[in-house]
This record gives sequence, C-alpha cells and structure tokens, in this order.
Amino acid sequence: MCGIVGYVGRRDAAPLIVEGLKKLEYRGYDSFGVATIEKGLAFDKHKGRISENDQSALSLKGKIGIGHTRWATHGVPNDANAHPHFDCTGTIALVHNGIIENYAELKRELNSRGHTFRSETDTEVIVHLIEEEYAKKKDLFLAVQNVVPKLEGSYALLVISNNEERMIVARNASPLVIGIGDGETFAASDMTPILEHTERAMFLEDGDIASISGNEVAIYNHGSRVTRPLELIDWSLEDVKKGGFAHFMLKEIYEQPQAFYNTLRAVNSETFPDFVHNPASVTVVACGSSYHTGLIFKYLLEESCRIPVRLEFASEFKYYPPPVEGLVIGITQSGETADTLIALKQAKSHNCRTLAITNILGSSVSRVADATIFMRAGPEISVAATKSFIAQLAVLMQMVNNISGRKCGDMLIHAHQAIEEILLIDLTNAVSVCTGAKDIFYVGRGPFYPVALEGALKMKEISYIHAEGYAAGELKHGPFALLSPETPVIALCLPGDTYGVMISNIKEMKARGAPVIAIGCDGDSELPDIVDIFIPIPRTSPFVLVLTSLVVLQLLAYYTAVALGRDVDKPRNLAKSVTVE
Ligand code: G6P
Repeated sequence: MCGIVGYVGRRDAAPLIVEGLKKLEYRGYDSFGVATIEKGLAFDKHKGRISENDQSALSLKGKIGIGHTRWATHGVPNDANAHPHFDCTGTIALVHNGIIENYAELKRELNSRGHTFRSETDTEVIVHLIEEEYAKKKDLFLAVQNVVPKLEGSYALLVISNNEERMIVARNASPLVIGIGDGETFAASDMTPILEHTERAMFLEDGDIASISGNEVAIYNHGSRVTRPLELIDWSLEDVKKGGFAHFMLKEIYEQPQAFYNTLRAVNSETFPDFVHNPASVTVVACGSSYHTGLIFKYLLEESCRIPVRLEFASEFKYYPPPVEGLVIGITQSGETADTLIALKQAKSHNCRTLAITNILGSSVSRVADATIFMRAGPEISVAATKSFIAQLAVLMQMVNNISGRKCGDMLIHAHQAIEEILLIDLTNAVSVCTGAKDIFYVGRGPFYPVALEGALKMKEISYIHAEGYAAGELKHGPFALLSPETPVIALCLPGDTYGVMISNIKEMKARGAPVIAIGCDGDSELPDIVDIFIPIPRTSPFVLVLTSLVVLQLLAYYTAVALGRDVDKPRNLAKSVTVE
C-alpha cells in the first residue's frame, strides 16, 4: 500500500526517484523519504506529500538511491515513521511496501539484543535484522537472504548500504518490477515511474532476491540463480501524464471509450480458457468497485445464460469460505488486493478452477490464478477506479457474450461511441443539488442496482458526501425514514421490465419530500414530469445503458468533488492498491 522506487546507474539518483515517487503517490501519500549513497548515506524524509515538498530530497547526491511514499499502517504519519529506515550504525537504509506480521515478536528480540528503534513501524525490524547479518557476513545480499526467512507477511524491499555499490531487493506478496535501462537499473512498485526511462522490465516473483547494479540484475530464489522473462511494456508515457486535464480522474473518464474498445477487441472466445466456456456455476470474489462489476456480471450472466452466479466479498470469503465448486473468478484492477489473492488461493485449495481479471501485467494475481485475462485500460493513476471499471465490464460482457453464443456481440461493438456521447453531458443542475447535500441515496434495479452502488461509492470516495446505493425496492424498508428535502435521491430509471415499478418508487420518494435526480432515456415522456432533474441519455441496449449510466454517475461525482474543492485524485485515507487485509 506504499510506493517504492530505487535506482542504480550513471545519473544522479535523487531526481529520478523523486519524479518516480510522485507517480506512485496514488499508492499512498501521507509521508515520503529518499536515501542515497553520497560519501555516507544521505537522506531526507518528511510527513506530507512529495509532490508538495520535494526540494530537500532533490538536493541529495549519489548514483544509487531508494525512495518511498507511504500509506500508514503501523504508526501515524510523521517524520520518524516515514521510510527509509536505518540500522543502528546508520550505514544501511531500507524501504518497504507490505506488512511484517510478526514484527512485534522480532522487535522484542531485537530490543533485548540492544538495538535502538526510532520509529513505530513494523518495517524497522527488517533493517536491524539485516544489520546483525551484515556484521557476520559483510555482504548485503547474503545478509538480506538470511533475514527474509524470518519475516512473516508481505514485502517488497529495497536495501542499500554505503559499503556496497549495488541495491538489494526482495519480494514476497507485494509487487516489485525491475526496469532495465542503458547502464542503469530501476526497481519500483509498478511500471509508472520506470516507463519514462525504459520499456524493458522484469517482474519479480515471490521469494526472489536480487542484487542490482547499473549493468547487472542477478536474481535468486531459495538460493538458486533464476531468470525472469524480459517483457516489453507497451504503455505510453502520455498515459501516465495528465495531458491537459485538470485531474487524472477526468482524463481517465475520458479515456473510457478507448479503454472499453481496446479491451473488447483484445478479449475473444480464444482468450478465455476452456473451463470458462460452459460453467455450471460461477463464484466471483472481489472488493470495492471490482465487487460492483462482479454484481453487474451476475445480473447479465444469470439473465442471458441462466447460469447461477454467486458473489462474495473477498474479505469475507477467506474467513467464511462458502461451499464452493466450479469456476471462481477474481476481479482486481490492481492484481494486488490482498483479500482477493487470499480468496483465490482458498478457492484453489477447494479444487476450483480460478480465473483472474486484472489490468496489471505481472501482478501477483496472475501467479495465483489458473488463468488470467488482462484488460487494456492502460495505467490508472487516480485512486477512484473509472476506466479500469469499464474495462473490467468489457471483459465480463465478452464472457457473457461468449457463454451465451454471441447474443450481445454486435451491440457492444458500438458501445464506445455511446460512452463518448455521454462525456459531453451537462450536469450543472445535478451538481448544484449534490454539493448542497450531506446525504445522497442512489437507487436502481437489476444491473442498475450495482451501477447505483458504484455511483454512490464514487461520490463518497472523492466528494466525502455520505452516499448510499440501494436496490430501489429496499428504500422503503428503512431508509425512507431519512428522506427529506435535504436528501436527494439519484434514480436510474431505464427502459425494461422494471421501468414501471421504478416510476412508482420515484413517486413514493417524491411524496416523502426528497428531490429526485433521474437518469432515463431520451424521449421518455413520463419521467421528466415527475422528477426534479432529468438527465437524458441515448436510448441503447441494456448492456450499453449500464455503461453509459455509470459514466454519468462518475462525472457527477467528479464535478461535485471539484465544486467542493476536494483532492480528487488522492482522496483522504484511501489508496488504489490495498495490499493489506
Ligand atoms: C481500493 C481502491 C478501489 C478498488 C478496491 C479493489 O479500495 O481504492 O478503487 O475498487 O481497492 O481494488 P482491486 O485492485 O482489487 O480492484
């Protein structure tokens, strides 16, 4: 849940690391730090964001360095808890992404052997353990190799010492990618800080420890030398820049037609492994927005193919595993969500066949699942998921299409154009209602119920307004007590079997004084007259209406958050990749 960057090469490390950390701030941004090897170890670490305070880090000298941007788990965000952490001699520096679960016990032992701790973090035990091994071996690689078996939990580690001209890295259950440049080597949590310098990369696997210099990467796993494939990453540098948009989130919303189209084209019947072609039943495990795409998939697959779909929060599945069999699909844009990884491992231990859907090549989930489908959303920097959500739907809709014998194929071909039309929609009136609200309800039925859930999640994530999504028929079983002129309801009222009952629900809400903002189709003759604000969208097929109505809700959340002056791309307390339970 933190971002790490390391560099060894011919250029000054600090400016490269600082720029890299800024690109990784979506993984955490409550504090940051950089250490380089000058004559001794030089460092700079602070509470706050590196994007707002980079001057002293930039002045560090040296061709080898490591950096970290933090999302606090153990210890509040402050200067002392910021990484890098150092051993007692001040000659070894370390940054860490992950959680050391047995740190308390290790810390007790280290304290009893006379070590002095300067932070409250779980991470600091690692560097003191390395210090002890280094004193024996006088070799940083061997020291790290002897320490990692003592660690329980997840880690991507970067370690440097002013006695050695290299960086040692190690991974277990936290992402770590090595970028191979010309006489220089990078290590980072993902490709975004590396892309500017090289497109050649190797993804480390669990148990890997590597010794890295400017010209060589030597990787070992359990003592044996191993190689990892060199991949060419085709994301463009422009993808990780704002390109004239005020926020990454808006840029990524605008990239959705392309993301949907690219993913739809990349995924076809041959992409799906055999065990996905005709499943007797399906279980989906996911978290957050990915859970909502799973719920949309449930409605679409059950309706189109009459195949039962069970949906589970990954965080619940792992502790209360249901009796599960057959196909289990893990949906995770980051490919690193700890809960989803554990749920998939558990499904495998029950002899289920597992499929992962992710946006990140080389992410951990692809090593856990039997098969992986990569969507083509490109890098998503803003914490709130938008284009990754649409791309997940492209994969899942293709899967429904494939299982159902291509019943919905043609209509999806034009979906990207329908999404494009939505981008220009005028939401001024709806935004002004939302900005004045403390609570907002979102309602829908069928596949529009998860669209309502996702709309509400977007609103609370980035505007900090309390928003709840409900199946429209459930509002009268409790939440009606909360309706008032100060509590707007956003209703998805699209053509189909439930249109009539949605109209009745909306009238009930109006009768309780709630202002209703409705999303309906162009040419609806009834809806505009009974609601306060009517947002018309083009009349298309149900699958495409799911996509277009969702984009309206993303834009509504975005413009509301902007109007309230929120930090849209980096909402408080959240991170994009949640690698802790
Ligand atoms: C975090 C992100 C959400 C995301 C969820 C699941 O909470 O902020 O946007 O939906 O994790 O992430 P995943 O990578 O598994 O889809």
